[in-house]
Amino acid sequence: MLNIAVLVSGGGTNLQAIIDAVENGEISNTRICGVISNNQNAYALERAKKHGIKSFCISPKSFLTRAEFNQSFLETVDMLEPDLIVLAGFLVVIPPEMTEKYRNRIINIHPSLIPSFCGTGYYGLKVHEAALSRGVKVVGATVHFVDEGTDTGPIILQKAVDVEQGDTPEVLQRRVMEKAEWKILPRAIDLIANGKVKVEDGKAVILQ
Ligand code: GAR
Repeated sequence: MLNIAVLVSGGGTNLQAIIDAVENGEISNTRICGVISNNQNAYALERAKKHGIKSFCISPKSFLTRAEFNQSFLETVDMLEPDLIVLAGFLVVIPPEMTEKYRNRIINIHPSLIPSFCGTGYYGLKVHEAALSRGVKVVGATVHFVDEGTDTGPIILQKAVDVEQGDTPEVLQRRVMEKAEWKILPRAIDLIANGKVKVEDGKAVILQ
């Protein structure tokens, strides 16, 4: 059984996709051991509560220094004893101590086809605004392992989505979530829970 801790900052639609997939069996061998948010108003916390999942809020704003936050954040994660940490719209930079300790055991969903529209400053709606302003015709989402960089770790799954005439950033964001994010994030967790993902030479390989 894979114990997963899901880290969130906002609405939590990706968390909901994970909860639903665990409940309906699309994700097997997996238990959500806790949800952690950096934002106490995140609707994701309500979603966790509704499904009887333990949840915690830990915000950098409650600490005098980043180092104190990082330590307390790592302690909260460790307490849950997760096998896998899932960043589902989590917008806080992961401390290097955590990346080191949980090497190839942290995954992130990013709302673009990495290496396009990723890295510092590309998150949430900003990604879709940038894609529309560049005029690309295909966008998508990526699930990847987290390393010390921003959106630089080994890519596990990607899914493309067409841009349509007249798209606004909000409309495009919703289509990318529905057609890509909510599918590939649960799928990646199921693959990991069933021993189907390994990292070789810095690249993720899906075993058949
Ligand atoms: C999602 O689109 C996710 O891909 C994005 O934030 C949104 C969270 O939505 N994450 C990033 O931009 C990370 N760089 P949600 O709270 O409804 O799951």
